[in-house]
Amino acid sequence: MEKELVIVLDFGGQYNQLIARRVRECNVYCEVRPCTMTIEEIKALNPKGIIFTGGPNSVYASSSPKYDNEIYSLGIPILGICYGSQLMAYSLSGTVRTAPVSEYGHTEVIVDSSSILFKDIETSDQNSTVCWMSHTDYIAEVPEGFRATAHTDNCPVAAMECSDRALYATQFHPEVMHTKEGLKMLRNFVYDVCGCTGSWRMDSFANQEIKALREKIGTGRVLCALSGGVDSSVAAVLLSRAVGKQLTCVFVDHGLLRKNEGDEVEAVFGPNGPYELNFIRVNAQERYYKRLAGVTEPEEKRKIIGEEFIRVFEEEAKKIGSVDFLVQGTIYPDVIESGLGKSAVIKSHHNVGALPDVVDFKEIIEPLRMLFKDEVRKVGRELGIPDYLVDRQPFPGPGLGIRIIGEVTPEKVRIVQEADYIYREEIAKAGLDGELGQYYAALTNMRSVGVMGDFRTYDYAVALRAVCTSDFMTAEAAQLPWDVLGRVTNRIVNEVKGVNRVLYDCTGKPPATIEFE
Ligand code: XMP
Repeated sequence: MEKELVIVLDFGGQYNQLIARRVRECNVYCEVRPCTMTIEEIKALNPKGIIFTGGPNSVYASSSPKYDNEIYSLGIPILGICYGSQLMAYSLSGTVRTAPVSEYGHTEVIVDSSSILFKDIETSDQNSTVCWMSHTDYIAEVPEGFRATAHTDNCPVAAMECSDRALYATQFHPEVMHTKEGLKMLRNFVYDVCGCTGSWRMDSFANQEIKALREKIGTGRVLCALSGGVDSSVAAVLLSRAVGKQLTCVFVDHGLLRKNEGDEVEAVFGPNGPYELNFIRVNAQERYYKRLAGVTEPEEKRKIIGEEFIRVFEEEAKKIGSVDFLVQGTIYPDVIESGLGKSAVIKSHHNVGALPDVVDFKEIIEPLRMLFKDEVRKVGRELGIPDYLVDRQPFPGPGLGIRIIGEVTPEKVRIVQEADYIYREEIAKAGLDGELGQYYAALTNMRSVGVMGDFRTYDYAVALRAVCTSDFMTAEAAQLPWDVLGRVTNRIVNEVKGVNRVLYDCTGKPPATIEFE
């Protein structure tokens, strides 16, 4: 079957990947490509449709990104969004001007329902629908052969089209959720204009990716740093399916993992697990504890944990010898990418950032770099990875090292592991895990007086944290039910030796951060 591909040509807009993701939600495969890609490269991809993104520039600026006008004559349908719509108008000799009134945010847009783009969308009695606008320039006059198909009080051409040439444009952003009927408009474009059939599924992604990896890797050797987190686990399984034993996964247990985590990872990826690969577990707990002894400053701890990871990995990589490919579980939010030629930045996440310097390899493979987190989880499920790995909450690279305030010692690691385990167990029992962005127990460096039985105690205080967040940039403290907090507190002080107080962190981010250090 012919592979249906829609490409998003990136002109520097902030929603470029969101557009791709929305198209994939319509079951059509979609990738973002830089606007610096050549017309020949586009022809070679043979896409069913092209979407131009928005961007911060004004088409009149000489430095603003443009595109070869031949693109409009390829017979491939195009949808221009925001800057992309202005570029289309400008390139085809319409008029683009600075708008007398800029429009930002929710805007009532009056649409011409005879346009295929607006087929079946719900409108008010005045034929309007709420769309998300963000522009200072606008199309004042459409190019020859085009007609305006939507307008607002302040914008004469909120959408335009030349259906004979399959060229469409919207000044507003159909990809953002605030555009109420936006997904339907994109669906209309990819199905009714581009003629896609919507046969793509996440398992098609997995199968296509496995096939492509197999072709690319051939008989080469592949090395993967496996952390046990969602991204590296899904990447490892994809590679295992593609090339089996040509893949070696190195899992470094730094002694700062959650309770039982090292064994859980080994159970899935080790020799008794379901996957064909070489699995190396490095038990490096002692050397981490030794290097962290006496260190209290958070950034210093982070640095040591990061450096030590690189050293351990380097030693293992030397034993393995030269490999052809190094796998990174980079996902889209880790990639800061722009069609304007800025290069991709790999996670500053300590346990991948510096690996390329210490591994003898020819090429990096990043099979998940086009996907959002929830898409990665979907792929993981399609690949049959157990739920407890696929649904894992984020866990920082430096692990419990940044959840123990002050010096890290094996004893403190034990305390925080036990407390966190109880907390997670009770949260799951109460059915609250799906509602929380992240939750964990941390060990404060505070000891205080308590009384247990008839004895005075002088023990640590554990802090519980639970936040609601979708982007992890800002967060609110979750309002956990008091009875759940009570149960967790009772269990921690009774079951975890060395703790006599449990505190709940009510602070949001900002001013706090999600982690303690
Ligand atoms: P903060 O504490 O900055 O955390 O509000 C935001 C998100 O990032 C995770 N985090 C880290 N992840 N290495 C990581 O891989 C780190 O050093 C690190 N610090 C914080 C944190 O768990 C949360 O999801």
